[in-house]
Amino acid sequence: MISPSRRPRRLRQSDAVRRQVREVRVHPNDLILPLFVREGVSEPIDISSMPGVQQHSLDSLRRAVDEAAGLGVGGVMLFGVPETRDAVGSGATDPNGILNVAAGVLADEFGDAIVVQTDLCLDEFTDHGHCGVLDAAGRVDNDATLERYDAMAIAQADAGAAMLGMSGMMDGQVASARAALDAAGHTDVAIVAYSAKYASAFYGPFREAVDSQLQGDRRTYQLDPANRREGMREALIDIDEGADVVMVKPAGSYLDVLADVAAESIVPVWAYQVSGEYAMIEAAAANGWIDRDRAIAESITSIRRAGADAVLTYYASELARTLNLQAGTGVSAAHGRV
Ligand code: PBG
Repeated sequence: MISPSRRPRRLRQSDAVRRQVREVRVHPNDLILPLFVREGVSEPIDISSMPGVQQHSLDSLRRAVDEAAGLGVGGVMLFGVPETRDAVGSGATDPNGILNVAAGVLADEFGDAIVVQTDLCLDEFTDHGHCGVLDAAGRVDNDATLERYDAMAIAQADAGAAMLGMSGMMDGQVASARAALDAAGHTDVAIVAYSAKYASAFYGPFREAVDSQLQGDRRTYQLDPANRREGMREALIDIDEGADVVMVKPAGSYLDVLADVAAESIVPVWAYQVSGEYAMIEAAAANGWIDRDRAIAESITSIRRAGADAVLTYYASELARTLNLQAGTGVSAAHGRV
């Protein structure tokens, strides 16, 4: 038996030492809360596959954003659930459409306290559920969709959104929307590009959350889960096109892509812990199979560790509350006393 000369355990001996040598931390400002707002309802509606998450009414949305802002959450990302849908997603560009109305209400009331961001994609608004408009053969028409995105960008910016989350994965969408925004005088409205967005099974519960009409899948526009290099390519293209932030999505199963992009990017890099990641934690915790609080903190800490500057997560307000409570003691739930 030898006495080891290198003893990494030395730095794990107490909570105080572990805190002192911790490499990454999560701060409430690093969290962005995705929220759903439904047209024509006066009460929020539960989403069964996402326990604790709701389709909000305008009123309950305001309360949720008020709470998030009070907790120091950095931003909200808004998704609209319209009453009616059509082939071109008219509700997305209608100033009276739910997403634009909600963005306006939030920007007026909370715009100084929290960053109001809107999802810029057609899938919630089309009757076929695709992220773009279709051509005569029923395929998603890239360039015709860009025109719709440009109009959406202007409608959302007019409403008061500060940052636009381009999640549609059309080629050229960032350059096109940037030019449209600038031409309309919205030079200060930022674009968050969902650059490396994979065709993922982990979006499952989101389909319920937005009452998605989708038949089929999104594999002609979202990335193949097997491709790592392509995630980087998409991020580099978006940065070149003028994206202010690039994103990797989902987060947990794509930490390699996230680390790649974080190593190269000259703009902030965000990651989205998506609906299925949330649902898995909730389901396992409900069965008593994992410690819910530790799983939440660990999953988000890991996304930060892989290189995300900020994380979109349905846990944003809850985690911010926990972090604020711990701020007094400095104890992190991810690495508590074990
Ligand atoms: C598309 C969009 C989706 C999500 C965010 N934006 C769905 C999809 O691409 O199929 C998924 C988010 C989640 O699952 O939490 N507008």
